[in-house]
Amino acid sequence: MSESMAEPMTPRITVRAPAKINLCLGVGPPRKDGFHPLATVYQAVGLYDDVTVSDSDEWSVSLAAEERIDLNDVPLGDRNIAIRAGRLLAEHEELDRPTLIEIHKGIPVAGGMAGGSADAAATLLGLRTLWQTDTSDDDLLALAAEVGSDVPFALIGGTARGVGRGELVEPVTDNGHWWWVSVESDQGLPTPAVYAAFDKLAGTRSAQPEIPDALLSALQRGDLDDLASYLSNDLQAAALSLRPDLAEVLEAGKEAGALAGLVSGSGPTCLFLCESSDAGIRVRQHLIELGHSRVNAAPGPVAGAHVVEYV
Ligand code: C5P
Repeated sequence: MSESMAEPMTPRITVRAPAKINLCLGVGPPRKDGFHPLATVYQAVGLYDDVTVSDSDEWSVSLAAEERIDLNDVPLGDRNIAIRAGRLLAEHEELDRPTLIEIHKGIPVAGGMAGGSADAAATLLGLRTLWQTDTSDDDLLALAAEVGSDVPFALIGGTARGVGRGELVEPVTDNGHWWWVSVESDQGLPTPAVYAAFDKLAGTRSAQPEIPDALLSALQRGDLDDLASYLSNDLQAAALSLRPDLAEVLEAGKEAGALAGLVSGSGPTCLFLCESSDAGIRVRQHLIELGHSRVNAAPGPVAGAHVVEYV
């Protein structure tokens, strides 16, 4: 068949969405709806999932990943958060356009870096572009919040405060260029299990969480030592109670020369703040020599979900 006779190609949109880390994660006692009130500062870091959307006969998801990533824990079909996001936008726009969602993962699965949320955010942005709907940014953020607590942040990226159950996001001033090293675990930790462990440990604690002013000030001034001092995570003790081996990972990072280390979100990924890009490369190498195989160096802050290819 000559080229002029060929079927027109189905348009495909590829969106890249970043991993998130929590520079502080204050957690209060559970609300009536079961969610925990959060006061957090998110940062988007340079580990990405790429999501490609195209018209199809039915809603489906296909998965591929970088070699170090285990895809066994990612649900297929309607239990996949990206499909839920796509269907929600279709319903909102009153469209019946089943979609193939091809996900290429570079963010660890169930690692506390919001990989699923990144896929959902990328799907929302990809479908708004593919379908050329006039969904406003505010509506897209509201739909994102319905899909999951971390999804709105994956849309906006950068550095942002998050309150409510984490879904109410607003950028904060960040004049730093930060260098992170992450150590992934062989096994994921389900977020609900970590919150349940937090409830057990916290008992009847009633304090409402707050974002420390000292952390916001460190970001505004781009002050590395202060940022290292004020990193915090209320879920860390809960994650360590389920996975005591993570204490050794945190120790190893310090031994390798990082300024500070903490569990990322609900874990089990551990994060290390490094002095410079060179220091990050050295810390990464040292951790690999200590026997850790899934170690990445990633800068932050980086952009939120954005279209990278349109064919
Ligand atoms: O919102 P998302 O679907 O990411 O939350 C996953 C689970 O994590 C919730 O079902 C809940 O168990 C727990 N969670 C919570 N409080 C939050 C966010 C998540 O208890 N603020």
